[in-house]
Amino acid sequence: MYKIVSICICVFSLYAQCFSQNTGRTISNFNDNWKFVHADIKEAKNPSFNDQAWRVLSLPHDWSIEGPFGANHLTTNQGGALPTGIGWYRKTFNLSQTAKDRKVYIEFDGIYRNSQVWINGHFLGKRPFGYNSFRYELTPFLLTKNNIIAVKVDNSEQPNTRWYSGSGIYRNVRLVITSPIAIDYQGIFVSTPNVRENVADIKVQTTLRNTTNQQSTLEIRQSIIDHKGKILLSKQERVSLSKDSLQNFTQNLTLQQPQLWTLDKPYLYQVKTEILQKNQIIDTQFSPLGIRTFKFDPATGFYLNGVPTKILGVCQHHDSGALGAAVNVRAMERQLEILKAMGCNGIRMSHNPPAPELLDLCDKMGFIVMDEAFDMWKKKKSKKDYGQYFEEWHARDLEAMVKRDRNHPSIFVWSIGNEIREQFDSTGRTYAKELAGIVKKFDTTRPITSALTENEPDKNHIFQSGALDVLGFNYKHEAYSEFPKRFPNHSIIATETASALETRGQYDMPKAGIQLWPKDSKSPLVEGNTDWTAPAYDNVAAYWGTTHEESWKAVKNAPHVAGLYVWTGFDYLGEPHPYSYPARSSYFGIIDLAGFPKDVYYMYQSEWTQKPVLHLLPHWNWKAGQTVEVWAYYNQADEVELFVNNKSQGIRKKGKDELHVSWKVPFEEGSLKVISRKAGKEVLSKEVFTAGKAQKIRLIADRKAIAADGLDLSFVTVEITDEKGNIVLDANHLVQFSVEGKGNLVGVDNGYQASLESFKAPYRSAYHGKCLAIIQSKKQAGKISLKASAEGLESSEIEIITK
Ligand code: GAL
Repeated sequence: MYKIVSICICVFSLYAQCFSQNTGRTISNFNDNWKFVHADIKEAKNPSFNDQAWRVLSLPHDWSIEGPFGANHLTTNQGGALPTGIGWYRKTFNLSQTAKDRKVYIEFDGIYRNSQVWINGHFLGKRPFGYNSFRYELTPFLLTKNNIIAVKVDNSEQPNTRWYSGSGIYRNVRLVITSPIAIDYQGIFVSTPNVRENVADIKVQTTLRNTTNQQSTLEIRQSIIDHKGKILLSKQERVSLSKDSLQNFTQNLTLQQPQLWTLDKPYLYQVKTEILQKNQIIDTQFSPLGIRTFKFDPATGFYLNGVPTKILGVCQHHDSGALGAAVNVRAMERQLEILKAMGCNGIRMSHNPPAPELLDLCDKMGFIVMDEAFDMWKKKKSKKDYGQYFEEWHARDLEAMVKRDRNHPSIFVWSIGNEIREQFDSTGRTYAKELAGIVKKFDTTRPITSALTENEPDKNHIFQSGALDVLGFNYKHEAYSEFPKRFPNHSIIATETASALETRGQYDMPKAGIQLWPKDSKSPLVEGNTDWTAPAYDNVAAYWGTTHEESWKAVKNAPHVAGLYVWTGFDYLGEPHPYSYPARSSYFGIIDLAGFPKDVYYMYQSEWTQKPVLHLLPHWNWKAGQTVEVWAYYNQADEVELFVNNKSQGIRKKGKDELHVSWKVPFEEGSLKVISRKAGKEVLSKEVFTAGKAQKIRLIADRKAIAADGLDLSFVTVEITDEKGNIVLDANHLVQFSVEGKGNLVGVDNGYQASLESFKAPYRSAYHGKCLAIIQSKKQAGKISLKASAEGLESSEIEIITK
């Protein structure tokens, strides 16, 4: 007999939040009140260790982002030029009587990296990989009070990554209490084997774990719930579970008139799985359900619900700029909102499994996700990377990714690796088959790909393995037209394109033609600007890549290429190709690290959305008479006309395969204006003025009311303007911030890839007239006031409400 706990009691820490009621399972947020030290203190695993002097903090936490930047950090600038090393976390907690006779687990969503965990001095295990979720059972080692979890995080072996990883317990942690008979960890798999016009077959596979020595008769109830929380249908079945066992059970349900999950309306149902014993609920879990069909066709690309749909995606690394790797849902949601507004409909989780909350957001917002396991297999890319652990850990780590993520309707493809070196030798065949086999063991509903570089079929052993359902290719757009011949009957997706280099607001004049920095693999990395910038005209790329325009045209004109994932949506920390220190974040993003779009954002928006777009570049502050190259991106119009101080500079129309128009005009102080017209009627106009002296600070919050939950964020854009409100593009004032009330300043940035100012400082220099302050709510409702001041400027203040 097992006592069913049906009340939710917050037993773990004062701040623990309980999520479930009457469900048989208690899930508590376990993020608050951790102790932390950035040092290796071996005795810290012992329960008697005194951690009083350690810092108190809440997870998710990334100690690297706290800085400072330095040329000597072992990460090098490729890893962000930030500190790594070893850190320890400890947390003391009590469990009430309600946990008695139940199973207690700690669940981690990701620790970077080489974590080791102890409970009350007992070693629970280690995880070398930094990107997946795992759990440990605590039950046998628990005390009635003062339990101590100790976690050692070792990111000292460097370099171990080609981009910024962050360091620490950077994703969420939960404490989970279940009955001795319960749904196993990641033990539910929802799929839709048949979706027809008016009906969908839903298959729910549930793995139950019986930790008792008694056979048990149970009921499994599966219910489909609509987005309003209404139960649409339920099915209950009696099952018998052997003692001490792990068993799978399958229920098939039929839903009439299903609402489909589409990119515009990603309708989400939920599957509620309940386990009953003697009419009492002993466990409950909710899984997302999106009903959609899809296919990849070798000749005509990707179809979602029968509709031909080009995948218009971007690759994303996992950092949130100034917030580092520490997971924050609002920070991720803001990135997705900015991408969605550009017309982006896909995300490639390069090159490792993301935080689960990011996948929840993709489910809700409608993105075509490629979930990717590895950046290397056994053959390493950085001296101390995961390659050394691959042999021992790859099977467990890949299984963890697929089992955790397979219920997300936004995931359409699994990638077993990025630019894997084994593609060049026969070990690639063996590994590819093995990895694909692991994926298929846990999910046969999605195709498997790998992002390849070798596009000669005979030379590519991963291709030769026959393990890939869809072939992913990075770059090499000149060969797209060859692919149907080289890889007959194979579906193709451009897993990476572009790798173009840009700095927001940087316009090198006279504008040069298209350049590669450096020209090829043999040239030294010395090209570029002396201030570590790259022009924002989409005219520079890494030698393996090309401009955004050229790569998008190649995909657009290749019906057999299912779509693309541009490298990258946002700039990310690390990999500041082609520069050495102090450059420390990438130039590849369509959007800068602070979240400010670069000009090329509007090229994609004009191509990828149906809304009217007109974008004009550059700014209008030059030397009298200087020849300035002016560009406009537009759509939904037949022509655009440019005016300098109301004098026409000519009408331009995009020719076939052109994605922008341009003029060369002598600078004359005043106004630069462009008008787009369709059938002679004005569609849009854009005007920029020569900015005067910097005088003011303008503060624009992306949200002026946020949740008082200690997590929510308001991203405040700071603009330096002249008297009339024109942004002063060369303004680089040091802006000081002060925050009062129910919030804190948690990050600052300006998007400049070589800035060495701290992301955590209460000040930031403007860069090309802008910077960013990130404000986080406290847990009490009220008002936050942010004040920004700078020498020589009128200061400014903004109020944010927290509810
Ligand atoms: C690709 C690689 C990416 C990134 C990119 C930069 O080859 O897969 O991870 O390094 O180059 O251009």
